[in-house]
Amino acid sequence: QLRNVLWTHQGLSLPHNVIKETLDVLPGFQIRDDDVVVASYPKTGTNWLTEIVVKILRASGKTEESVDTMTVGAMELRRPTAPQPGYVKLAELLSPRLLITHLPIQFAPKGISKPQNKVKVLVPMRNPKDTAVSMFHFSKEIIPLLGGNADDLRWEDFVQDYSAGIVPYGDFCDHVLGWWQMRDDPHFLFLKYEDMKKDLLSAVKTIVTFLEVDLDESTVKGIAEASTFNNMKPVLDNAAAAERRHIARKGIVGDWKNYFSTEESEAFDAWCEKKLGGAGLTFDFE
Ligand code: PPS
Repeated sequence: QLRNVLWTHQGLSLPHNVIKETLDVLPGFQIRDDDVVVASYPKTGTNWLTEIVVKILRASGKTEESVDTMTVGAMELRRPTAPQPGYVKLAELLSPRLLITHLPIQFAPKGISKPQNKVKVLVPMRNPKDTAVSMFHFSKEIIPLLGGNADDLRWEDFVQDYSAGIVPYGDFCDHVLGWWQMRDDPHFLFLKYEDMKKDLLSAVKTIVTFLEVDLDESTVKGIAEASTFNNMKPVLDNAAAAERRHIARKGIVGDWKNYFSTEESEAFDAWCEKKLGGAGLTFDFE
């Protein structure tokens, strides 16, 4: 069971590589005006978006050790390859830094969502059914690393736990609604996975404009081309290999249809509609 490898902090389910001390310290973590933040619910396209941002920053000449996100990872995580949570290293890095977090807005550094902030925040979003399928597979890889048996994780149980928020970083709907509160703030950019799949070049252009960097057309095209699933997979596989897990799995829209029964799909729809219905947040499932 996935729930056996989670713990709860103020009602939020978390993996054990996020420790309480980190959650106590992170709200006060010093955010700098020139930080770029990727704030995401897990499995919504964090690494995809982060790699695009890194490519853009590198191409624009804004390269510092700070863009070495693959070794630092999410700021709250203590990774198998690094003894301390990411924020410890990030605090020492030169600007401009790239910060990644999977924390809900109320647990993330306060400086990210302050109304008067200047930090640029990118929020990837993805339809919750594909996000759940992606987490299901990821969990199957993680559980044995934590001493459990992957076969014990059954889809029927997982999908119930998912809509009950008993998954890493809690309830999908609560998480996206939290960050969605910032939608009118010009320092925030929300990008849907499905839109990026449909038109990656437009998405890259949008990110370039948002980051206020000046890149010529052919560089932008080159970044989009290098960021397709097939072209990015070797990079992501290589980065994750040391931790014996995979980030690039299928990279498609609609894989949920291979997992959800009609009843599960209807129950999931009802859960999303109830929570997200009033917020003007809709997802593309095809
Ligand atoms: S994590 O571990 O929470 O940070 O995972 P995250 O990076 O957010 O999400 C992983 C999913 O993103 C897919 N992915 C991509 N899709 C399309 N194009 C590109 N370039 C790409 N890179 C990563 C990855 O395959 C995971 O989705 P699934 O559905 O499992 O394939």
